[in-house]
Amino acid sequence: MLQLGDAVRQRLEQRPCRWLVTGAAGFIGSHLVEALLGLGQTVVGLDNCSGAALAKLDRMRHRVGEDAFGRLTIVNGDIRDLQCCRQAMDGVNLVLHQAALVSVPASLADPVACHANNVTGFCMVLEAARQAGVRRVVYASSSAVYGDDSVLAKDETMAGQPRTPYALSKVVNEHYAATYARCYNQDVVGLRYFNVYGPRQTATGAYAAVIPLWFAALFQGQEPVIYGDGSATRDFCFVQDVVRANILAALLENVALAGEVVNVGSGRSVSLLELYAALSETVYALYPDLPRVSPRHLPPRAGDLQHSLADMTKTQQTLGFMPEVSLRQGLAVSARAYFGEEGTTGNV
Ligand SMILES: NC(=O)c1ccc[n+]([C@@H]2O[C@H](COP(=O)([O-])OP(=O)(O)OC[C@H]3O[C@@H](n4cnc5c(N)ncnc54)[C@H](O)[C@@H]3O)[C@@H](O)[C@H]2O)c1
Repeated sequence: MLQLGDAVRQRLEQRPCRWLVTGAAGFIGSHLVEALLGLGQTVVGLDNCSGAALAKLDRMRHRVGEDAFGRLTIVNGDIRDLQCCRQAMDGVNLVLHQAALVSVPASLADPVACHANNVTGFCMVLEAARQAGVRRVVYASSSAVYGDDSVLAKDETMAGQPRTPYALSKVVNEHYAATYARCYNQDVVGLRYFNVYGPRQTATGAYAAVIPLWFAALFQGQEPVIYGDGSATRDFCFVQDVVRANILAALLENVALAGEVVNVGSGRSVSLLELYAALSETVYALYPDLPRVSPRHLPPRAGDLQHSLADMTKTQQTLGFMPEVSLRQGLAVSARAYFGEEGTTGNV
């Protein structure tokens, strides 16, 4: 059960909304859709996903039940298409924008595709929201916007040079959002996610994230790869906490955040070596018969930051949000989901 607090839950029950989730077939988007359906909301899920990704959304039917699934409309379309965004936005009160090309290495390989999806696509979503009179747009920004600034912890006033086209695309998103707030009074709030993890995060493809990649390696008895010496640190946030931050940001009243951004992380710094120790202990405790393997180190990848940590002061003061799921809890839920225990939705 998502921990939202009685006031927010009551508000959703008494005044259900129509939500648009872009990137609905993706990792974070699919958790948002599932949580909103579980809260009795009506959801439009927009994604330009492949058939396999659509099948993933369809599997949600079994987890949420027929009744809730009936409140979901899936639009197989592209955010770069203004007409498509306008149609998806019809009657929508609140938008949670997640669709993007999310891989840093992919953005280095194809900066034009990154710009088209992440900048042009974002512009289309904002414009369609403005035309449709949407109450608020909450969108996914990224800790990547802090770029080469080495001061920790990162608060929202800090700014470095973007190190990659992906980081630049998120910086530009934030400028567009602030400009729409100024010029059109559009209520639009950015969430700077740090490293999000949880069930259904993909372990396939060249650009998969570290946690599902390590689950996959341990499951197959192969050596997990650590890029660099393992001293790099990250701030990991469980996906259900990210869902909660989105819903709180969307429903926030009496606090003006239009055109602004807040961090969504845990406020805890974890080195890759510490993460590996916690993850492997969790996996071997749950699945003692797996063969024991040790990680191997490769050189750091281009674009990777050495350290990343969220200052959560502004988020706590404005959204009243602090993450509730510890790394150990989140890893255990994610491991069980990864290792195929059906019905694991990521709720803790
Ligand atoms: N996962 C993280 O740790 C993390 C960290 C920081 C920021 N973010 C941001 O959070 C958001 C969601 O990330 P995720 O991890 O769920 O990624 P994901 O790749 O799992 O999901 C993104 C979804 O967007 C869809 N999409 C991409 N381009 C599209 C387009 N042009 N039109 C329609 N749909 C499109 C994809 O098909 C995919 O289903 C992204 O904006 C990402 O930049 C994620």
